[in-house]
Amino acid sequence: MKYSYIARCVAKQLARGFKLPYMVMFETTQMCNMFCEYCIFGEEGKFNDLQTRAARQRIFQRIDEFCDLGVFALSFSGGEPLLNPSTCDYIAYAADRGLWTSMPTNGLLIRKYADGVARLDMLEVSIDSLNPERFAKRRGINALPKIIDNLEYVLGKRRPFTTQINAAVNLENLHDLPALAEFCQQRHLVLHPEAVHNVMRNGELLPDAELHGPDIDTVADFLIELRRQFPKNVRFYTHYYDFYRAGGFRPGFPCRHPSRLISMKPDGSLHLPCAFKTLYHSQAPVKEFLASPEARQLIAQETTMWDFCHGCKIGCPYEVSAFTNSPTLALQSALDFLRWS
Ligand SMILES: C[S@@+](CC[C@H](N)C(=O)[O-])C[C@H]1O[C@@H](n2cnc3c(N)ncnc32)[C@H](O)[C@@H]1O
Ligand code: SF4
Ligand code: SF4
Repeated sequence: MKYSYIARCVAKQLARGFKLPYMVMFETTQMCNMFCEYCIFGEEGKFNDLQTRAARQRIFQRIDEFCDLGVFALSFSGGEPLLNPSTCDYIAYAADRGLWTSMPTNGLLIRKYADGVARLDMLEVSIDSLNPERFAKRRGINALPKIIDNLEYVLGKRRPFTTQINAAVNLENLHDLPALAEFCQQRHLVLHPEAVHNVMRNGELLPDAELHGPDIDTVADFLIELRRQFPKNVRFYTHYYDFYRAGGFRPGFPCRHPSRLISMKPDGSLHLPCAFKTLYHSQAPVKEFLASPEARQLIAQETTMWDFCHGCKIGCPYEVSAFTNSPTLALQSALDFLRWS
């Protein structure tokens, strides 16, 4: 992240009343080498994509377009992002341009790409239990020792508090979190717990896996107490649990993914309204794409949303929406996230 770049983005965003997209979610691949029980990518062979040389060139060009537009941050996601052999080249290119970069990964390949992932502003490794059996049951593969080993290696190349452990939480692993918080405290890591929620992809859903009724309070109260005990390490938005209880996005708290979070697929195409449902996609340059009648119409519909949005509680769209829907909440959440409050 370069401060001169951020300053240029702020100027561009100010000139457009902060109505421009400020982040890109780039699914570098939709393939995965794990089989997590709560994730739709875990269904073996369901998603396959071809990484062509043409797509690679297009992605570099896209990063230039995003910088020109005034985008602050680029999140590399998936599937498992390190299954795309070009991902670390994209990270380096985006970092050199000044973008703030982050990437969640299951950790199986971080040792192989240690120098590449060292460039990320925030490396996120998904570990939801330090109990090997429970990890294997939830993540579908008995790989906890290997992932911990990979993580310890990569930490030698990273600064304190720039590596985050993502823990998908429900009642099954809730009581594993104090051990995970201690693990993070000893290594100067951030622990980001996120309640398991249902994730729809183009109309398809796994069987209901989310929390209901008093279970939401049980998880929220436990996490708030955990954060009290580990204030430097445990970070999450308290408001997310009010949002979760209220059933997710709704007209009073609409999803801002369409206007503020650009969805880019492995082939470099841009998708609307979001990464989880495509109603319009294009390979046009980003400014042309956003100015197209199709994109403008979909973005104009974001405050009323679509039927398929019902119950959606996905974390990344939630965060950009929280910042957009309520400046006060944005400030509170930022403080909450940084544990200044
Ligand atoms: C979709 S994964 C993609 C990146 C990578 N494969 C990984 O596992 O980190 C991004 C994050 O979403 C989390 N996740 C997946 N499905 C989830 C669900 N249904 N509820 C909550 N978190 C989920 C994963 O644990 C991971 O931390
Ligand atoms: S959470 Fe990540 S590692 Fe697990 S199946 Fe989904 S994409 Fe793969
Ligand atoms: S609420 Fe947002 S992220 Fe969820 S399905 Fe609707 S547009 Fe997509």
